[in-house]
Formats: sequence, C-alpha cells, structure tokens
Amino acid sequence: MADFGYDISDFCGIDPRFGTLDSFDALVREAHARGLRIILDFVPNHTSDRHPWFVQSRAARSDPRRDWYIWRDPAPGGGPPNNWLGNFGGPAWTFDAATGQYYGHSFLKEQPDLNWRNPEVRAAMYEVLRFWLRRGVDGFRVDVLSQIVKDAQFRDNPPNPDFTPDQDPFLRLLMLYNTDLPEVQPIVAEMRRVVDAFSDARSSRVLIGELYLPLARLVAYYGLNAEGVLEGVQLPFNFQLIATEWKAAHIDRFVRDYEAALPANAQPNWVLGNHDRARIASRVGPRMARLAAMLLLTLRGTPTLYYGDEIGMTDVPIPADEVQDPFEKNKPGMGLGRDPERTPMQWSAAAHAGFTTGTPWLRLAADWPTRNVDAQSRDAGSMLALYRHLIALRRAQPALNRGSYEALEAEGDVLAFARNHEGLRLVVLLNFGDTPAPVSPALMPRQPVVLASTDPARAGVIEGPLVLGPCEGVVIGTVNGEAPATR
Ligand code: GLC
Repeated sequence: MADFGYDISDFCGIDPRFGTLDSFDALVREAHARGLRIILDFVPNHTSDRHPWFVQSRAARSDPRRDWYIWRDPAPGGGPPNNWLGNFGGPAWTFDAATGQYYGHSFLKEQPDLNWRNPEVRAAMYEVLRFWLRRGVDGFRVDVLSQIVKDAQFRDNPPNPDFTPDQDPFLRLLMLYNTDLPEVQPIVAEMRRVVDAFSDARSSRVLIGELYLPLARLVAYYGLNAEGVLEGVQLPFNFQLIATEWKAAHIDRFVRDYEAALPANAQPNWVLGNHDRARIASRVGPRMARLAAMLLLTLRGTPTLYYGDEIGMTDVPIPADEVQDPFEKNKPGMGLGRDPERTPMQWSAAAHAGFTTGTPWLRLAADWPTRNVDAQSRDAGSMLALYRHLIALRRAQPALNRGSYEALEAEGDVLAFARNHEGLRLVVLLNFGDTPAPVSPALMPRQPVVLASTDPARAGVIEGPLVLGPCEGVVIGTVNGEAPATR
C-alpha cells in the first residue's frame, strides 16, 4: 500500500484487506447476474519491491530474474545512470548497494519498473491477464500504458522549456526517452490479442489505456494497422475534460479536433474525473458540475465517471497529519496530493456514511450527512436524479448512444452540437457562462421539446425563444418526434 494498490506484490491474488479470491469470484458472478461488467486495473509498468520477482531480481546480478527489471550501472562519475525523474519525487533510480547497480522506477522506489523488452516478462504478464480473464473479468484499465518501454540507450531527457518553478519538479524534463516510444505499440497489440482470445460473439473484453498524451499520440493507441484494423486498446482514455480549460470555446475546439482525429470505427470516449485529479465539482463548482454531467453523457462515445461525482462530492481538505498519498508526502504543499478526491463514498446518513463498519483511512467530507446516495435518491432535483435521468435518456435514445456528432455554431459561452441517428436528431445546448444566454432560433429543431435540463424546473414543449439560464444545459428533441421525453 505504498501507492494504495499500485505497488503489487502478487498479480494473481486479492489483498486480504479487501477480500479473497472467493469473494472476488462472487463479485463477478453477482455483477454479471445484474448485467454489470467488472473491469480490473492492470498495472504492467511496475511491481512492488516486495514482489517475489523483484526480490529474486535484486538478489544477484546473475539471478535469472535480474533482467526482468531495469538495472543499470552507475554513471561513469558515480550517481544515477541518467537524469530521469520519478513521478512522485526524486530520481527515477535507486542504488542497490548489495549488487552495485541502480534499478529504475517511474514512480516510488517501492515500485520498480518491469523490463518489457524481456520476452519472459511479457509472457508472464500476459498470463496475469489470462488468469483474470478466466475468472470472468470483462477487461482491464491499463495503468500508465505509455511508459512501459524505456529508451534502449537510456539517454537523458531534455529540459522542458515551458517549466516554471511553481510547477511539480517532475515536469522539469520532457519525457522524451521514457514515454510513448514506438516499441509500446506492438506490445499493446500483443495485449489486445491476449484479451481478444477471450471475446466471443456475445461479449467482448475491453482494454482501456491510461494515456496522458497529446491528441495525435493518444489516438495512435487505437492501433490502426496497415489493413485498416484497430489492434490497439479499444479505449485510449481521453482526459481532455479534465485537462482543458472549462470554457465553451476550448471544449468545442477539442471535441471537433478529437472527432476529426479518430480513426474509422474507433469508439470515442470521455472522462470527467478519476482518482488522480481534483473532482469535477471542485474544479468547476457545483452548478457547473451539473452541466458537466450533461456534457459527459451527451458527447459521442463511452463516458467514464468517477465514483461520488454522481452525487456532486467535492475534494476534501486533508489535514497534514492525516495525509496518506505519497505524492503529497514527498512534495508537500504543492496541491499534488490525491487524498482529497479519494474519500469514502457517501452512501447514507449511517455511520461512516454507510461506506464501512471499520475506520476509513481517509476522513469523510463534512457534507456527508446530507450529500449521500440515500438522500439524493429521494430528491428529484438532486445531482443523482440528474445523472439517472441522463443515463436513462442515453439508453433510450439511439441518437445519444450511437448517433453521429455534428458540431453547431453557437455564440458566446454556449456550446452546441447535435446527435443524429437515422433521421432522429437531438440538439444539446450548454451554457458555460454564468449569465443567461439566448439561443439562436436557427439552432432549434421544429416543435422543440426539452428532454433533459440541468435546471429541474425546466421541462416540456418550448414556446417562443429559448434563453438558457446561467450554467444551464438542455437536450432538445422534437414534439411527436422520434424522441419522446422519458420523464
Ligand atoms: C497511475 C494511477 C495512479 C498511480 C500511478 C502509479 O497514474 O492512476 O493512481 O499512482 O499510475 O501506478
């Protein structure tokens, strides 16, 4: 738990803190019985330093597992082999006095990097995938996928010309030689073949890549090959809604660029939050978080939402003596710590918000007695009600769940687009401003009807000109059209 589950000492076990393989099997069984899929986090880049492979690897230079990890001699004058940095602070190298070499780690020194150039490592890790696929998992989210191969010559990374001293010191260098190397792509294709072997006509298994990359590089992970087949991950995580400035014009630009950059038949995807970044409600504020929900669930592609965001949970300030995350501990006060977005899910007004009967390792948000699933289930105006409505609408409307995306020209702070499917057309209008926004009649379908609004008071047929409220978003269909209201 040096990095809360990302330092794995047994890839084919369940940490006893969380259960057993039997309870895992029961989870998969019960989830499947309810039409839910289970996707595991697969961490290929590194293991724990307590993993038996690493224990063997560090035992002696001659150990058969030595080359399973990245071992290098000290630089000629002594010191680390090159200038690479660890994400969580300090160099990406730790000296092992017993064998006189450094081992590489992209993250903590407790997380030594595997050597994916070694075919035995690849075979062993593919066996890990098969182990869980045989147990019925539906796919994997693949951790730091772009970093699994390092430069064969271990060249120094160049300085980042845009670095400013207030930033995370890790950003001082560009990761030219330890991320997104061409050698990653064939490995991704291998992983895909392993996973595809478990797909059948009824259901396919999915790979989702964690990739913080510029657009052109991101879409490369769909793995379009010379025959026009996509052999990469089905979903390279698209983190733009986390990264882009929260302005209609920026998001509009990115959506258009993304749509244009996707290879044919690639499934787009959108991510609103995750366990490494500030929560959406804290980033954009509670009102705008409702708009963000509508954006996520109306854009074309697979949406990913982070637990708790559907009830509007916010980042929780963690006092210094309760900090858990090594990111915060190693670089205190820079706002890098991820504990604030990892607090217990707020289920109910019961003890510990119904999350556990034990003591959670992070404190609850102050608002848990009122902001919880139970309370919001009974409130038609709640964030949860909005999410449920949008998800139901998305399921019911082919235009939303499989329609094409059509960018529309809107003015000011409004983002506008349409989703079309076989003559069905829905228009989505999102006001990113905090003042009312009149909508040009040219954007409206004939006989418009509101199918969803972030404003619980708005519903029904639209008569006359539409003026969106501050931070209001609407999904508009057509009266008697193919797009009946679901509520
Ligand atoms: C990924 C995970 C993050 C973890 C890191 C190292 O970025 O999302 O939580 O700390 O990889 O495994």
